[in-house]
Amino acid sequence: MIRSRAGLLCFAVMMVFGPMAFAPAALAADAAQGQVLAKRWCATCHVVASDQQNGSTQAPPFSAIADRPTFDAAKVALFLLDPHPKMPSMNLTRAEAADLAAYIAAQK
Ligand code: HEC
Repeated sequence: MIRSRAGLLCFAVMMVFGPMAFAPAALAADAAQGQVLAKRWCATCHVVASDQQNGSTQAPPFSAIADRPTFDAAKVALFLLDPHPKMPSMNLTRAEAADLAAYIAAQK
């Protein structure tokens, strides 16, 4: 077990700061929630699901985005937090952006 004071201190620090370090993981992305958000906020321009007939011609369908070799859900989540010139700023929370990215990833 913990023998030294330093070991005990180390253990205490981990107990206090450990959960903070793992906080982003606790915020696990939820693709189902992402779908709800996508249908509400993104479907006017993007084809967000295979049963959707049409979006705007300029915006790539989510399945096309997910199919890109460079696709990375983490990058998409970050992209969604920044205002994008051709896309309205939607003021998404980090959790919402992550959920949307997870949903897009699932459209492959
Ligand atoms: C007003 C129309 C509009 C809405 C609403 C919209 N988008 Fe877009 N989006 C676009 C257009 C247009 C592009 C292509 C931009 C470009 O080519 O520069 C794009 C591009 C993207 C891309 C690809 C960026 C890349 O790497 O090429 C992602 C991901 C994306 N949108 C996600 C979303 C999500 C998620 C939502 C809903 C929260 C959303 N968009 C809502 C118009 C829209």
